[in-house]
Amino acid sequence: TDKNYAEPYRPQFHFTPPAKWMNDPNGLVYFNGKYHLFYQYFPERTVWGPMHWGHAESTDLLHWKQLPIALYPDELGWIFSGSAVIDKDNTAGFGSNAMIAIFTYHNDELWKAGQKNTESQAIAYSNDEGKTWTKYKGNPVLNNSGEQDFRDPKVFWHQETSKWIMALAVSDKIKLFSSTNLKEWQEESVFKPENDTENLGVWECPDLFPLMAEDSQETLWVLIVNHGDKAPNGGSGTRYFIGNFDGKTFTQSQKALWLDNGTDYYAAVTFYNAPQDKKIVLGWMSNWQYATKVPTEVWRSAMTLPRKLGMVKADDGYRLTQKMIPQFATLTKPEWELEKVNTPFEKKNLNLSQAEVTFSMDQPNDAIITLTNTKGELFTITITEDMVVTDRSNSGKTDFDKTFSRKPQVMPLGEKKVTRVQLILDKSSVEILLNDGLYSMTNLFFPTEEYSILNIITKDKKPLKNLKIKSVARIWD
Ligand code: FRU
Repeated sequence: TDKNYAEPYRPQFHFTPPAKWMNDPNGLVYFNGKYHLFYQYFPERTVWGPMHWGHAESTDLLHWKQLPIALYPDELGWIFSGSAVIDKDNTAGFGSNAMIAIFTYHNDELWKAGQKNTESQAIAYSNDEGKTWTKYKGNPVLNNSGEQDFRDPKVFWHQETSKWIMALAVSDKIKLFSSTNLKEWQEESVFKPENDTENLGVWECPDLFPLMAEDSQETLWVLIVNHGDKAPNGGSGTRYFIGNFDGKTFTQSQKALWLDNGTDYYAAVTFYNAPQDKKIVLGWMSNWQYATKVPTEVWRSAMTLPRKLGMVKADDGYRLTQKMIPQFATLTKPEWELEKVNTPFEKKNLNLSQAEVTFSMDQPNDAIITLTNTKGELFTITITEDMVVTDRSNSGKTDFDKTFSRKPQVMPLGEKKVTRVQLILDKSSVEILLNDGLYSMTNLFFPTEEYSILNIITKDKKPLKNLKIKSVARIWD
């Protein structure tokens, strides 16, 4: 490992493991002034394998301190994804304010042989802020009901019923369970939307939480489900349902939507216990189609930036918004700005490998934004009235997997047209947030020379407003 985290393509302000393989964020929890990030980790290779929980912590969700591995596989299996809670009232008997992880045991050999009953839920506790962990003697706490895929428990305390609720992904549906002590679980309901005929692969990593809509002050429940296949642009992606939860059953009240329409946003879940009830979501910035093949050598995969979830009412129902957390601004420094921008616009010699680019358009307008380098490798973002299209087919290294560059990625727009654009660029990724996070698209790319030229053209040469380019500081000392 390069202690400087300076290898080619290594993100400078996104979380990456020091070395080797990482996938899903796990056990996202806030406690005693610190955000804890556990993650699916295989410390021996840069591809997926026997899973552990890696661990890092942060006071601001941006600067992370790497910590020793929290959970190791054992005779019951590999440690798959799950969540963590703070047991304020000692309901489980591991001590008041114990940090408790709820995770999946996975027996890979039997699972691969197609056997059922090879995934189960288990718990472990820590009384020292996640530094050392003890697995519960009575594990597993929830046995398989006979389905092969039975995993990724997300647990929260439900005040109204004084119970713990667990959302669990079971093949192609979500099951909800309840418990008073985290050790005994009772099935409450099954969620599987009617006429959801598309085969979206295996359902994984659910999350269930209430959220208040910004304008109406109405509180609705959000069920996040990650899908292993057939996301809008191929491979894995994150969908959400909005509706109601009565302590037992989740009822959907509008059609499902995708949380991010890029190809590189998966296994997204929220922090438990975050201050002021803020809902902070974090995803794994990759896609199972090619995650094990992306051209990095020392480590593989990054997390997205943490994003603050909100809910707004649009003409077609409620929608989640994802905004940069306010403290992100502390990493940025203005480099260049222009109030009125005539197009075609081009600026060279920029550092676009660690940058935030923002601009607005008076009315919705067609715009083509190109990030490119002196070799002509390019990543384009095309905004029209109906959709946003990104294209990375000539973005640099693409041949490690044919699904990576096969076709442009398309995000259909709702009633609201695009007027504000925010791009956050970090070495090998862009997070595209439009209209203050109403739309988001996250993409990876691997140029052989860093992008340094920004080019924007608009329909009828209509000018843009407030183009700002900021540099973004690295987070590692
Ligand atoms: C999602 C997932 C989870 C599982 C974990 C295994 O990416 O497949 O369902 O728990 O990764 O690493």
